[in-house]
Amino acid sequence: MRVELREIRKQFGPVKANDGISLVLEGGQIYGLLGENGAGKSTLMKILSGYQPPDSGQIFLNGRPVRFHSPAEALSGGVGMLYQDPLDIPPFRVIDNYLLGRESGLGLNYKAARRQLRELAGRYNFAIDLDATIDSLSLGERQQLELMRLLAGGAQVLILDEPTTGISAEQKELLFDSMRRLAAQEGKTLILVSHKLDEVQELCQHAFVLRRGQLVGQTGIPCPTVKLVEMMFGQAPPRSQRPPFEPGDPVLEVEAATLADARLRVENVSLAVPAGEIFGLAGLEGSGQRHLLRGCAGLLRPEHGRIRLAGQDVTHWSYHRRQDAGAAYLAAGRLEEGLIAGLTLTEHMALVRPDRSFMVDWNQAHREITGRISHYHIVGRPDSTAGELSGGNQQRLLFALLRDRLRLLLLEHPTRGLDVRSADTIWQLLYRRREQGTAILFISADLDEIIERSDRIAVFSGGKMSRIVLARETTVDELGHLIGGQA
Ligand SMILES: Nc1ncnc2c1ncn2[C@@H]1O[C@H](COP(=O)(O)OP(=O)(O)OP(=O)(O)O)[C@@H](O)[C@H]1O
Ligand SMILES: [Mg+2]
Repeated sequence: MRVELREIRKQFGPVKANDGISLVLEGGQIYGLLGENGAGKSTLMKILSGYQPPDSGQIFLNGRPVRFHSPAEALSGGVGMLYQDPLDIPPFRVIDNYLLGRESGLGLNYKAARRQLRELAGRYNFAIDLDATIDSLSLGERQQLELMRLLAGGAQVLILDEPTTGISAEQKELLFDSMRRLAAQEGKTLILVSHKLDEVQELCQHAFVLRRGQLVGQTGIPCPTVKLVEMMFGQAPPRSQRPPFEPGDPVLEVEAATLADARLRVENVSLAVPAGEIFGLAGLEGSGQRHLLRGCAGLLRPEHGRIRLAGQDVTHWSYHRRQDAGAAYLAAGRLEEGLIAGLTLTEHMALVRPDRSFMVDWNQAHREITGRISHYHIVGRPDSTAGELSGGNQQRLLFALLRDRLRLLLLEHPTRGLDVRSADTIWQLLYRRREQGTAILFISADLDEIIERSDRIAVFSGGKMSRIVLARETTVDELGHLIGGQA
């Protein structure tokens, strides 16, 4: 299917999210859509997929003008989109979600649907239990399910908005294989929205670059990465250097802790992190690193062992009590655990006030968030809701809501969804905290990031903390082997 977008415009208040974008996409190709945070990528794709209407401009499919009023309408016209944050319904079963949004709401045929879903899963090597509930699936599996729903619905054009943030390396390979097959063998038109330039290089044949709502460039792939970065930012952004580390007093001490939930048991973890250290946790998704982080935050109670914060035994303290003692935790699920989509930025500021008194001083909250919006370069206003912000700006908001003085900062995928320049800005802010003596523990799926940003790295594999290495003495290859369980 040939897609043409002509002069698409969309404005939100003063923000020109899409400012006259025109582009043409051919069938059988994979296109990359690039641009810094807030450039207008998701907005453009939501317009193409019927999620929201443009203010003006036209869409042509195979030369015919179309106007979609809903994602369901777009899907029956051949356009399907996998959103940046999944839209499925967690308490439902896989099979029910699959049937959702189908044209024939009445007389749902479970038997036929089951057969169809099994057939699709077989074709793309996806293994999913049809009777499991959505909340028991990993993010990667939820994506696979959504992809199958779109394909069964007749999608000829498939849009994937940052599909590889938060899924495992294996799931990523599976996803990329399916994408290649869909384009090369089935002639579909694929669009990958991503900040990971190596992924765009690996998968796409062509890239479009947006900046401030406009198309500023397009190129065939391969194209030198520096050139792509220049197109995105106008010039290659400098990378900040990690300041030297001078260990202070111990901040976090974990002694022989056993942390378990229904799915995974992590036994006998011990480590000590001094003030000012940046400590990376590496491992495949679900290897135990998240248990450790949540255990330190007070969100997962250890079955055995002790956890000390600045010398004080906090093993049985709640999250709130640990917060007051100077710990903070930043979850990966931005809109699930971190922010509340319908609340404004000012309201978020009021919610995180340390005093938690009954009366809210709204003027004070407004002043405070205004300062933080500019300090953290958030594109948004105090009265914007968190849900209106672009993905990268939501991530910045999470950081903006942290307290000033912290002893311990626990971060899950801190730069998820950030473009390279924004990610670097976040690390500069984290370096400043480190210099003030904050100990930082973080999980990342990006081994380059772990090696570049950490002082020490703990390697997790299969529910064990297998060893601790010095970041400057290891390489991506070596770390990759250790994560896979090889010495
Ligand atoms: N529903 C909305 N209401 C108000 N402003 C919005 C809305 N949707 C998008 N915007 C604004 O439009 C601009 C473009 O946002 P968009 O989500 O398209 O960016 P993006 O390129 O996808 O960025 P990211 O890489 O951070 O996901 C941003 O400034 C954003 O705040
Ligand atoms: Mg986006």
